[in-house]
Amino acid sequence: MQNAPLLWGFLLLSQRKIGIIYSIKKAKVMDDKIVLTGIKPTGTPHMGNYIGALKPLVELSQNHKTCMFIADLHALNSIHDAKEIKQHTYEIAAMLIAMGLNLDNAILFRQSDINEIYQLNEFLMNVTPKGLMNRAHSYKAMIEKNSAAGEDVDAGVNMGLYTYPVLMAADILLYNSDIVPVGKDQKQHVEFARDIAGYFNNIYGETFKLPEPVISEDAGLIPGLDGRKMSKSYDNTIPLFAPSNELKKKIMRIITDSKTPEEPKNPDESTIFQIYKHFANESEIAEFRKMFLDGGMGYGTAKTILFEKIDSVLAPARAEYERLMANKSEIDAILADGAKKAGFVAAKTISKVKKKMLG
Ligand code: ADP
Ligand code: TRP
Repeated sequence: MQNAPLLWGFLLLSQRKIGIIYSIKKAKVMDDKIVLTGIKPTGTPHMGNYIGALKPLVELSQNHKTCMFIADLHALNSIHDAKEIKQHTYEIAAMLIAMGLNLDNAILFRQSDINEIYQLNEFLMNVTPKGLMNRAHSYKAMIEKNSAAGEDVDAGVNMGLYTYPVLMAADILLYNSDIVPVGKDQKQHVEFARDIAGYFNNIYGETFKLPEPVISEDAGLIPGLDGRKMSKSYDNTIPLFAPSNELKKKIMRIITDSKTPEEPKNPDESTIFQIYKHFANESEIAEFRKMFLDGGMGYGTAKTILFEKIDSVLAPARAEYERLMANKSEIDAILADGAKKAGFVAAKTISKVKKKMLG
């Protein structure tokens, strides 16, 4: 779309700003590029999700046009409970807003609110080779697991899961995205979107831009309470906005080794330190590191320092999150506004595609 930047400029009229603004460390993205990403509403956001996925997006939105949606259609292949999807959708939206997503630059919307997404998905199905889907890592992992268990290879695989990359390509192509920041696990899906755009352009002539994946600089995997990767599947998470007393209880449960308070400790192997460094400033991090290395600090004290840091840093955002969750109509209004703006771009793309494919 030749005049897309103009269109976006027009759409991104000033809205409002709230919450904490984090410094931008990693944005390597050109100013005039359209950055798009989606987040699946499959769980209550935990610290791993925040540090690994959401914080970089909030930072990016400080000085880039970003298009961010809650990928509720993508949640459907694993969650068949509308209430649950809706609740997580609100949680993610509220969290992004409370953490300072810059709504002057970001369009935030719900994937399913844009009717054109269902249409583009259908159109793209017809230029996507089945073999491409067979090569998708997530599908392959599933069939390998099934065959190792002696089950039918496709057991538990619905068509939503199998064709997941087509819907994701539709997400990316519908809004003329240039840059798609994703975690490592999603890189192949963005490459598939490029492939699918290429197949389409070969048949119907230049239509779609080829998107670029940007793999979030490794924030590192945030460890959970038991030291494994923090993940809802391991039940070892610390919810980002747990109330103070719950947060404290969780932090006190972090598993540590059995070093005595006097012994020096390795901060880089400590879950406590790994989490702390995402919430503190540089001099605080250096000081805490030294306390580990010098010895003389017990893990109980280290946990209290971690708790106090997180609790105070997150207090304003947590209050805003709670306020938004108690006023869902405010979130609805932001999502509706986002959908209106995104829908405008989507309608233009679809009319072009429909014309090319059906005349
Ligand atoms: P979970 O493992 O809890 O199911 P998801 O797979 O839904 O989390 O992850 C959503 C996003 O959060 C992904 O982009 C992923 O990169 C990021 N993420 C999840 N857990 C962590 C973690 N422990 N450390 C860093 N990033 C994480
Ligand atoms: N598949 C992504 C995930 O599981 C979420 C997603 C859906 C997405 N559509 C997207 C990410 C488009 C980037 C662009 O995390």
